[in-house]
Amino acid sequence: MKVRISPRARGPLVVEGDIDLVDLDGRPVETAGRQRVLLCRCGATRVRPLCDGSHNRTGFEAPPPAEPEVE
Ligand code: FES
Repeated sequence: MKVRISPRARGPLVVEGDIDLVDLDGRPVETAGRQRVLLCRCGATRVRPLCDGSHNRTGFEAPPPAEPEVE
């Protein structure tokens, strides 16, 4: 299955597919076989790298996407 990664404007990255998630040292991160995980991108989670909903408390809002460079 193809992996799909989609950002939420005020929250995590939603990763869907056959997921093999590892930490900085390459150790597996338990996902319980889920086909969908939420990766924190606000930095406030207590269960890194997964989202725990803390973005709601901090009011995180992602910056708008960068404009493509025009030559
Ligand atoms: S994006 Fe949800 S806790 Fe960081």
